[in-house]
Amino acid sequence: MDKKIILSGIKPTGIPTLGNYIGALRNWRLMQQDDKYCYYMVADLHALTVRNDPDELRQQTRSMAALLIACGIDPERSPLFIQSHVPAHAELAWILNCFTYMGELQRMTQFKDKAAKHADNINAGLFTYPSLMAADILLYQPHYVPVGEDQKQHVELARNIAIRFNNAFGETFVVPEPIMPKFGARIMGLQDPEHKMSKTDTNPNGYISLLDEPAVIMKKFKKAVTDCEPVIAYAEGRYGCNNLLTVYCACTGKTMEEAVKDFEGAGYGKLKTAVAEAVIAEIEPVQQEYKRILADVTYLDSVLKNGAEKAGETAQKTLDLAFARVGLR
Ligand code: TYM
Repeated sequence: MDKKIILSGIKPTGIPTLGNYIGALRNWRLMQQDDKYCYYMVADLHALTVRNDPDELRQQTRSMAALLIACGIDPERSPLFIQSHVPAHAELAWILNCFTYMGELQRMTQFKDKAAKHADNINAGLFTYPSLMAADILLYQPHYVPVGEDQKQHVELARNIAIRFNNAFGETFVVPEPIMPKFGARIMGLQDPEHKMSKTDTNPNGYISLLDEPAVIMKKFKKAVTDCEPVIAYAEGRYGCNNLLTVYCACTGKTMEEAVKDFEGAGYGKLKTAVAEAVIAEIEPVQQEYKRILADVTYLDSVLKNGAEKAGETAQKTLDLAFARVGLR
């Protein structure tokens, strides 16, 4: 049986949020089935587009790897690695930069958002970030890339780059497709439900960190912004209420219809408590696993070394092919 190949990654900028978990990490775990082979990566090179503290980056990269295992990534089955441990990423990125148009990069919403947020540091890395991400993806010849909605545009650009390269030099890259969860491809901030929940939000009440204590999770949901409508429903423009219902569905496996029914005649207090309880039930076991894994230094080192070796083998094959195609070898 030909297995479908899966690749995805996450930046080690802070502790992942409930948005990362529902939008991506939980899906990563669910993808690990017999008909698939998954590569998962901590994208440390991507973290450098914003000024960083070296010790913090080192610590957050390890901590992210431990969290991914705690979320259910099985490194025996799916190579788990750190992006910078596989040099092919940066090498292919250069080639792909030469197949990416300025106009395409200028249209990326993430670039526009980040450039506005860090106006004093609009560096070339921030601009060409999507070519590096295309390299991350195309090196592994994946069929699917599980991401949240905000990364869909980057995966689509990777597709276009792959098609352009294949047309110019012959079949080299598999053209990948983004896949997103049914519920929660875009989890919104709890204080500003018109914007996505982000791990770099300056207001900690706006997001749930995967390492928040249960009491903190309950408190943050209780403070979540909703609206003045008396009835709990999923409807156009009801950002806060929609977001809470979406999180509820994602964590309980219920349909939206069932969720709305659960809160017939109820107030926001009941909804917020129920959502918080569902989230706590989902992430409490992850937190316990995380502490255990992070403390086992030898285990984590060996996982990351093996992961980089396995990923490196696949990546090198694709890199060699791309080099040969363009005439570098
Ligand atoms: P990052 O680190 O910002 O986010 C990791 C994953 O979490 C998803 N996500 C969300 N999903 C739902 N609701 C939210 N509020 C939310 N916030 C984040 C993201 O869509 C993503 O799937 N550039 C990528 C990392 C990366 C990558 C790759 C991903 C580097 N190379 C190759 C896929 C393939 C990033 O910054 O994700």
